Amino acid sequence: MIKNSDKVDICIVGTGYVGLVSGACLAEIGHRVVCVDSDDKKINLLKKGIMPIYEDGLKEIVHKNVKKKRLFFAKSIKEGLHHKGHRAEAVFIAVGTPPRPDGSADLSAIEKVAEEVAKNMSDYTVIIEKSTVPVETCRWIEKTVTRFNKKHIPFDVASNPEFLREGSAVSDFLNPDRVVAGVPSKQAEFLFKKIYKPMKHSQIIITDVKSAELIKHASNSFLSTKISFINAVANVCEKTGANIDDVAKGMGLDKRIGSSFLKAGIGFGGFCFPKDLEAFYWLSAQKGYNFELLKNVQDINESQKMWIVKKIEEELWNLKGKTIALLGLAFKPNTDDMRFAPSIDIINALKKLGAKVKAYDPVSMENAKKVIKGIEFSKNPYQCLKNADCACLITEWDEFKKLDFKKVLMLIKHPILIDGRNLYDPAKMRRMGFTYKSLGRP
Ligand code: UGA
Repeated sequence: MIKNSDKVDICIVGTGYVGLVSGACLAEIGHRVVCVDSDDKKINLLKKGIMPIYEDGLKEIVHKNVKKKRLFFAKSIKEGLHHKGHRAEAVFIAVGTPPRPDGSADLSAIEKVAEEVAKNMSDYTVIIEKSTVPVETCRWIEKTVTRFNKKHIPFDVASNPEFLREGSAVSDFLNPDRVVAGVPSKQAEFLFKKIYKPMKHSQIIITDVKSAELIKHASNSFLSTKISFINAVANVCEKTGANIDDVAKGMGLDKRIGSSFLKAGIGFGGFCFPKDLEAFYWLSAQKGYNFELLKNVQDINESQKMWIVKKIEEELWNLKGKTIALLGLAFKPNTDDMRFAPSIDIINALKKLGAKVKAYDPVSMENAKKVIKGIEFSKNPYQCLKNADCACLITEWDEFKKLDFKKVLMLIKHPILIDGRNLYDPAKMRRMGFTYKSLGRP
């Protein structure tokens, strides 16, 4: 039975970017939310008010909703489902789905959650899949829950893909372009509408479960395609003398194309696009469709990362013993996330060529130290640039927009700046005395 109240009792399993942000935001719009994680350390930190991830505005809404007694943390699904006299009507699954070596998604964590929920639910429950998963995952969740649901408690499995971006996760969650709800029954649809009712300005799209699962895959793959497309166009601009900024602007003003995700750079990274692209390709192949376009998107992205290495070689010739300073390490600004960051492949390539690498990132240094070895981490951009043979802009953090370039010119050995994100104005940089290279801009 769905309770007769505007507030929904929710349990969210997984306190990563999606789980924790969704939990905090669902509490912010008035629901009672218990966030569960099997990682005791994370839950202990959260109970102390310490965020395990860096995300703008997250700490504030977590603290606020804990204080208002709308947001709680628990170490087991059992506790999350029956928390201080409250029974969860909706259980969101937001656990990790890392890629396996063949590119398919590893869904074993989801299976475990499904089993635990089945063993602990006590009345009608809607189990909502929020992680990015291949089509038919919900069908597998349903099978698993049925197998372990010995008391035959009624339940539905629904899909509610999340479209938030790291770095703007809280505001993306609270102001979505759309909410997609893939539901198998009217009862589940009713609960969804209740959950998202306070977000009056957002459109809810009700679909069947498989379509909802596919919407997420198709959206992420389309956005990746847009980025690889504009990067390929930037390469043509470079060869023809056209200007990618003007070309992207001219294209983007066409409403059918749109101007977002048309920023040329050294490729996309992060835990979503590379993984989802691979998983969508794999899934299509499994179903007998060769989605070759997605392979091309991947290939363009891989070669795009090496653009910066080629440019350094064009300026410095041999890299053996030369010092390269990298500004930025995270896969994009405003996040400490280093997963699939282009900087990792770029650093590996530079090290292979015998270069010494120095790097600085405003926020992701601690995470970077865990995955990058054999380079010098600097305390600030100036220490990083001191005596470097060449500077490379990898991540377009605001801090790098405001660099004191007069100081940089005094510190750096050669005034060479390779801009992997087209952050600076070419004419201005050259006027200041830099040998300046950017993507597809004359
Ligand atoms: C992406 C999607 O944008 C979200 O909608 C989705 O919910 C999320 O994946 C997910 O599946 O969880 P995110 O990975 O946080 O979000 O990052 P984006 O802001 O989309 O950027 C991804 C990458 O594309 C970054 O490396 C960024 O530098 C690059 N990018 C983005 C470009 O190179 N050019 C652009 O014009 C835009």
